[in-house]
Amino acid sequence: MPRQGKPRIVSIVGARPQFVKLAPLSRVIAKRFDHRIIHSGQHYDYEMSAAFFGQLQIPRPDINLKVGSGSHGRQTGRIMERCEAALAKLKPALVLVYGDTNTTLAGALAAVKLQIPVGHIEAGLRSYRLDMPEEVNRRVTDHISDLLFYPTAAAAANLKREAITKGLVRSGDLMYEILDDSRPLIARKRSLLSTFGIESEKFTLITLHRAENTDNPARLTAFINLLRAVPGQKLFLVHPRTLKQFKAISLYRRLAAVPEVIISSPQPYLETLTLLYYSRAVMTDSGGMQKEAFFLGRPCLTLRPETEWVETVRSGANSLIDLSPTKFHRAMATITPRRRRQCTVAGRRPSEIIAGAIDTFLRGR
Ligand code: UD1
Repeated sequence: MPRQGKPRIVSIVGARPQFVKLAPLSRVIAKRFDHRIIHSGQHYDYEMSAAFFGQLQIPRPDINLKVGSGSHGRQTGRIMERCEAALAKLKPALVLVYGDTNTTLAGALAAVKLQIPVGHIEAGLRSYRLDMPEEVNRRVTDHISDLLFYPTAAAAANLKREAITKGLVRSGDLMYEILDDSRPLIARKRSLLSTFGIESEKFTLITLHRAENTDNPARLTAFINLLRAVPGQKLFLVHPRTLKQFKAISLYRRLAAVPEVIISSPQPYLETLTLLYYSRAVMTDSGGMQKEAFFLGRPCLTLRPETEWVETVRSGANSLIDLSPTKFHRAMATITPRRRRQCTVAGRRPSEIIAGAIDTFLRGR
């Protein structure tokens, strides 16, 4: 039964960036609604999941579907099947899905087939590359959602181009909100630099996890060659998928032999922000890190030929170097350094905008 007669909202999450977005929103949603959380179990290692719930003080999931890893069809299908059973039990007034992972798509499909309205956080982003699993996930999710919480003007234009005109809400970016709340904690974690044996502004922070990069041996080799061209210390936070790939194709020793490379397991949210803040620059294929670098005023070199966050490139803060050492050197010579940037809608907190729009939507039904 819904708590205290409040409408029940279910958030479906499963991967790292979704936990980060859920953190600020869950605090606000829980005050106005009966909020429940379903964790698909897509990410399950401590550093990929529980570390985020603990550090960001996200309430424990009400249900964990424990799907684990698998091929796309298998993982998506399993989440959908188990979500359907969970939603049939919880009977929410609305389901919220986040971003563009397999959990996003499966959660949205399970809900829509039970005729439960869907709200999509971070709607409207496009790479226009259907060979990226995330592009398929977000496109389908946008087309079956009732409320589309889009972060940027470019996202709104993408939705319009696909004739999606109903339920659009400009919400700003929950990742900006949580980052802004976390800013005072960054200085307190500065001792991390000595733990890694690195100095402020003298190291490059690196992450790589996109299937287009990790599942292609030629690209992994090009990545190592790029690392060799980066001067100074390089701190590489390695996603478990990437580590497995390096080992599977016997490239790990070549990676570890790159001069001044430090290889580390993935870090929790605040630690990653701290490392980013004190870095000279970040090299990444993560969408979240591109934005975090933008918000913290650090130069970002994106290890992809395109990005969904086109504003970061237009502003001169982000450079699409793909895996090219030449583009790396050119970008480092021209990229705009420290300038703090904002991403809220007229100073309103994204979580408040989203909760308000859900309230209005449910009252209108
Ligand atoms: C997923 C999302 C991606 C998102 C990323 C954030 C999809 C298609 N991709 O990618 O959009 O940017 O999360 O991190 O949904 N693994 C572990 N432990 C874990 C989780 C994964 O070892 O806790 C390994 C497994 O070998 C697994 C592989 O990583 O097969 C890939 O995991 P998966 O969740 O399928 O995709 P991500 O690469 O994490």
